[in-house]
Amino acid sequence: MLKKVAILANGGDCSGFNAVIRAIVKTAEKNGVECYGFLDGYRGLLNNDFVKLETSGLASGILNKGGSIIGSSLNANVFNYKVEENGQVVYKDLSEQCIENVKKDGFDCIFTLGGDSTQKSARDFAVRGLNVIGVPKTIDNDVACTEITFGYNTAVTVATEAIDRLHSTAETHNRIMCLEVMGRNAGWIALESAIAGGADVALIPEIPFDIQKVADAIKARQKEGKNFSVVVVGEGATYKDGEVVVKNVRDGGVGVINTQLGGIGEKVAQDLEKLTGLVSRNTTLGYMQRGGTPTAFDRVLSTKYGAKAMQLALEGKFSTLVVIKNGKLDYVSLEDVVGQNKEIGAVGSGTKEANAKLVTMDDDLVVTARSIGICLGD
Ligand code: F6P
Repeated sequence: MLKKVAILANGGDCSGFNAVIRAIVKTAEKNGVECYGFLDGYRGLLNNDFVKLETSGLASGILNKGGSIIGSSLNANVFNYKVEENGQVVYKDLSEQCIENVKKDGFDCIFTLGGDSTQKSARDFAVRGLNVIGVPKTIDNDVACTEITFGYNTAVTVATEAIDRLHSTAETHNRIMCLEVMGRNAGWIALESAIAGGADVALIPEIPFDIQKVADAIKARQKEGKNFSVVVVGEGATYKDGEVVVKNVRDGGVGVINTQLGGIGEKVAQDLEKLTGLVSRNTTLGYMQRGGTPTAFDRVLSTKYGAKAMQLALEGKFSTLVVIKNGKLDYVSLEDVVGQNKEIGAVGSGTKEANAKLVTMDDDLVVTARSIGICLGD
């Protein structure tokens, strides 16, 4: 019998966290289950820091709120946790402390709301005997085994609105407008927003680009009398034979996600100005994509995910991740989500990119983009 459960939100925030929390709490209450929230993700699990979540209390009026009412921690891999000892930074496996906390407080299930590294840790806890159920979050849409993560649609919507706004200024001043969007090593946001916003070029990490080909596509537009172009650049996109542009490396390269990407949009804009003679500007959209109220789509998806996660807990289906498969709510084993990344608590949570769900060349988005003449730089 399930009596007491807890939720934790981990990794970079995105719209929809609160909608998931609300759906879990509501479904829990209907089934006589008490619900708690660990503060700041796995850090809360480690410090045993939690609050009660009730629809008459903290979990009220949160469906449309951005962020997470229980916080979210970045770079908190409790299997390889950064601590200071005698003035020295060392990394330690503190997962046993977390497990003790959960047992002592009598939580029957922990819901882990997060991306691939969060679910990697969830699986590592499952292997060590905790009852865990994951919910796939991230604006990047790169969690394996699900067709869509919550937060992604809102990010695409924000990026689309930015493209619309850049379109009119590009056209007015006969300029090339680049928009650098997030997504890490996956091009989902870049590609989908480029299609939604009617961009002329989409550069994604999965297709290393030839800048001359991009310039040629822009010049071909000029020949047709269109002296402006909109170019969407995924932050992880690379020049052919080029490297990912890194803005910052944290913690000397140790940690969950230690590289902050950024800068490729500016570089592309500068090169396109040289190659086409058109004035080019870059806008980096940044954290706008993660903040604020979720779209209706994300509210519904998050609610479905939260309700399903709690249903799975009631049925005792632990060590799983709720997913969308063939357009329907479903679940998979966390083992499938980590894929080949089996080692428990590996540095940097293992091979993040290796198991990320990237855009494939036969995806409808790629096929559609090519069909309507969006230049993908290849
Ligand atoms: O994974 C979500 C994401 O927003 C990525 O798109 C981006 O590269 C990264 O997080 C930024 O991380 P941080 O919040 O650490 O700057």
